[in-house]
Amino acid sequence: MKFSREIDADDPLRLFDRWMAEAQESEPNDPNAAALATATAKGRPSVRMVLAKRVGEHRFCFFTNVGSEKGRDLAENPRAALCFHWKTLRRQVRVEGPASELDARAVDTYFHSRSRASQIGASVSEQSRVLGSREELEERIRRFRETHTGQIPRPEFWRGFHIHEERIEFWISGVDRLHDRFLFTRKDGAWERYRLYP
Ligand SMILES: Cc1cc2nc3c(=O)[nH]c(=O)nc-3n(C[C@H](O)[C@H](O)[C@H](O)COP(=O)(O)O)c2cc1C
Repeated sequence: MKFSREIDADDPLRLFDRWMAEAQESEPNDPNAAALATATAKGRPSVRMVLAKRVGEHRFCFFTNVGSEKGRDLAENPRAALCFHWKTLRRQVRVEGPASELDARAVDTYFHSRSRASQIGASVSEQSRVLGSREELEERIRRFRETHTGQIPRPEFWRGFHIHEERIEFWISGVDRLHDRFLFTRKDGAWERYRLYP
């Protein structure tokens, strides 16, 4: 596949939509998977994969357990960064900005759009806390199934976050490490665009 060395876009959100649509065609699994970086208030960083979801106009959302490490980081330092890497396309997108919680209705809607099994999994998991054994988890699932036959209520600890994009960088792999990088930064509500050295 041949790639253009330029990008014909002034609006990074539209460009992101286009790249995501192309990734949906090219990537064998989870084209919306992205590394999510958070940090404690003291600046200790950590990173893990999440599935980035679009909720209304918010393109950079994810859902998680607020008791997890990332949830605890965001409670004390509500900023985050996402990094998408589409290996087949040899492209990367980086997104940074403040993170805020999605409203409860949007989270309910997403929670109930998932399979019953994953709703149960989310309900019984004390994400990121120590688990004694696999059997303990399976026992929790079994008991939960027995006691919940109707609609599963979204656990209060299961929430959604939105990263309000302030910086978005598009990276295109080039030969001899001469990659193309385009950084968009938001200033007074408008996007400024820069080409960066690779
Ligand atoms: C492809 C992929 C997608 C994932 N998506 C999510 C997600 O959307 N939400 C989530 O909480 N964990 C997701 N995980 C699991 C996280 O990477 C991580 O193990 C978990 O959230 C605990 O992270 P923490 O202890 O840093 O909070 C995903 C893992 C992979 C590999």
